[in-house]
Amino acid sequence: MMLQSAPSVSSEALLDVDNLVVEYPVGAKIVHAVSGVSLQIARGETLGLVGESGCGKSTLGRAVLQLRRPTAGRVLFDGHDLTAMQGDALRLMRRRVQLIFQDPIASLNPRRKIGDIVAEPLVIAGVKDPEKRKQLVHEVLTAVGLDPTLVVGRLPHEFSGGQCQRICIARALILNPEFIVCDEPVSALDVSIRAQILNLLEEMKGRFGLTLLFIAHDLAVVKAVSDRVAVMYLGRLCEVGPSEQLFARPAHPYTALLIEAIPVPDPDVRPTETVPVGEPPSPIAPPSGCRFRTRCPRADQRCSDEMPELRVVAPGQFVACHHPLI
Ligand SMILES: Nc1ncnc2c1ncn2[C@@H]1O[C@H](COP(=O)(O)OP(=O)(O)OP(=O)(O)O)[C@@H](O)[C@H]1O
Ligand code: SF4
Ligand SMILES: [Mg+2]
Repeated sequence: MMLQSAPSVSSEALLDVDNLVVEYPVGAKIVHAVSGVSLQIARGETLGLVGESGCGKSTLGRAVLQLRRPTAGRVLFDGHDLTAMQGDALRLMRRRVQLIFQDPIASLNPRRKIGDIVAEPLVIAGVKDPEKRKQLVHEVLTAVGLDPTLVVGRLPHEFSGGQCQRICIARALILNPEFIVCDEPVSALDVSIRAQILNLLEEMKGRFGLTLLFIAHDLAVVKAVSDRVAVMYLGRLCEVGPSEQLFARPAHPYTALLIEAIPVPDPDVRPTETVPVGEPPSPIAPPSGCRFRTRCPRADQRCSDEMPELRVVAPGQFVACHHPLI
């Protein structure tokens, strides 16, 4: 059987991203979507990646998987430099990594039956025996909580958003990957079924020994699923730290504003501040120095002159700020 149970979690870095840069040429201009991001994810860990729309989260996720080749920087996966790989070597390595998208319905081919959609990665990987493929499809659909006999012969439009996301998760799991980038996997789903899908991802993570990069703009979701959290603003990381610690004692003014803006269930308790006013500046012409300075209540001259680098501010917690809150 191809689907195996989890290896034990260790602190070894499965993913090591070093100074990653992604730029999109748009006419004569350049969009600085990701500007020198470094991070590590340990085997078995979930790293949450948060930040406002357009800050570069999806670009970073896609560049890590080499679906968009980075402009500069390195991505080491299990010690192998993906950025230096081409052709067959990269294709083989790609079997070990997967991507789950935000819009499950749009990411399923509407004209293909579910059985064929879920089996497709096996076909591409060269599993030629149809009986073997069928067996693996049945196993993985069962694992994600669907009845294979009721599902394989039907088309995507016959399923709800939540069911489609289960199908996408099955397709992502079928080659028994080690690492999955989950790009806003529950954002397009009804609130009522988000928890089910998050629980499913958590269960699959334990069962198949997965390591996750979990992208979301919803901090509450990220807090619920992540071991550590990385906060991104306009193409750069502001802060990285253990989830509980970062939420309890944020060091970066932007992280603090995001946390204060999380809706509270009690209607009598109002957030003291909201997310920073106005739109973030354009990534075509990011501000000098600290990119957050145009919206930061603590900004001074140094923040315009000098770009802050990530540095340790508490055990395991890193901040890129000249005037951190702790
Ligand atoms: N193919 C592209 N060509 C040009 N610019 C792009 C392209 N893809 C993304 N961008 C720009 O790069 C920046 C980062 O986009 P990206 O989609 O990575 O952000 P995001 O954080 O995932 O946002 P969202 O939360 O809305 O999904 C944005 O300014 C976006 O407009
Ligand atoms: S470096 Fe300056 S502008 Fe940037 S977050 Fe810190 S205080 Fe604010
Ligand atoms: Mg995105």
